[in-house]
Amino acid sequence: MPLELFFNEDCIEGCKRHIPDGSVDLIITDPPYGISGDTLHKHYNRKEEFVIDGYIEVPQEDYAEFTRNWVRQAERILRPGGSIYVVSGYTHLIHVLNSLAETSLREVNHLIWKYNFGVFTQKKFVSSHYHILYYTKPGGTVTFNTYSRYGNAEKTEDNRSLNYQDREDVWFINKEYKPGQAKNKNELPKELLIKMIQYSSNEEDLVFDLFLGSFSTAKVAIALNRQSGGFELSKSAFRHQLNEIKKVNPGSLLKELRVPNHAAIERQGKLWTEDERGHVWNRYQDLRSAGATKKGAIEILCEEFGRGRFAVAKVISNLEATSKED
Ligand SMILES: C[S@@+](CC[C@H](N)C(=O)[O-])C[C@H]1O[C@@H](n2cnc3c(N)ncnc32)[C@H](O)[C@@H]1O
Repeated sequence: MPLELFFNEDCIEGCKRHIPDGSVDLIITDPPYGISGDTLHKHYNRKEEFVIDGYIEVPQEDYAEFTRNWVRQAERILRPGGSIYVVSGYTHLIHVLNSLAETSLREVNHLIWKYNFGVFTQKKFVSSHYHILYYTKPGGTVTFNTYSRYGNAEKTEDNRSLNYQDREDVWFINKEYKPGQAKNKNELPKELLIKMIQYSSNEEDLVFDLFLGSFSTAKVAIALNRQSGGFELSKSAFRHQLNEIKKVNPGSLLKELRVPNHAAIERQGKLWTEDERGHVWNRYQDLRSAGATKKGAIEILCEEFGRGRFAVAKVISNLEATSKED
């Protein structure tokens, strides 16, 4: 496995030195939290002897400037159409949002990742979510594999679309509990990484992480047959994890992935009743008034009514024409 894109360096200067403009398809990154005195471990119920030392923090007073600088590099190295997911706690979220707003990157979603093991508190609500800022770089084709995880007509037991549910912007994903294993202080769960990588990249694409920590992004990316690379400033973490990543078998996770069911759309080919046309039309108008684009609304209608895209688009166009005549 090629390891030439892994660097034990500061990501800002390192990007300038090693990574050409527009060369990365997807960035998934989880910058240091800038929490002073590094008290994070006190909140968690776990044995610190298994946490790899050398997690490098950024002083609070430097956080805004630091963030602006790495975000600019991220923007530069992304290819036009490339995607970036930034995981951030609440403390310095404002700096991440401001830095992203200063670039040409386009906000697509502000996702909420709800996890278990919230930070314990008694006199206030328990913090149990992170923010994930999903942006794309204008000027090229964006990879978004809508049906890579759930097919168009797959339903939950109570008849809701699994695909729609998987693409809602609140993600319930548990942190991994790894007793007795060496870990980085804030290791991202595999399930979370798989989801971002499946939606926003294809096999062979380059998935990059500016703050590798335990190399979790890179390990999952390689196991999904993507190329990977990134930066980690800590010598001890880098040395340990570079050895670990050599053990990852490229593509090994692919066979464990759920296979989406792209079975024939339920009602495809069946005649439309007047009733069904009426329901589709009402639902279409509701979706449009709720802010959905025409294309987005048609996509939802296909899922909800078990019909193909072409048929729904045709019915909507006919009904639009009729409603204009009326
Ligand atoms: C929140 S952790 C990343 C955790 C990682 N996503 C994982 O799942 O293990 C942030 C990492 O950034 C590293 N770091 C801090 N400053 C850095 C810099 N200027 N360049 C590269 N890495 C840095 C820290 O040592 C730490 O390992």
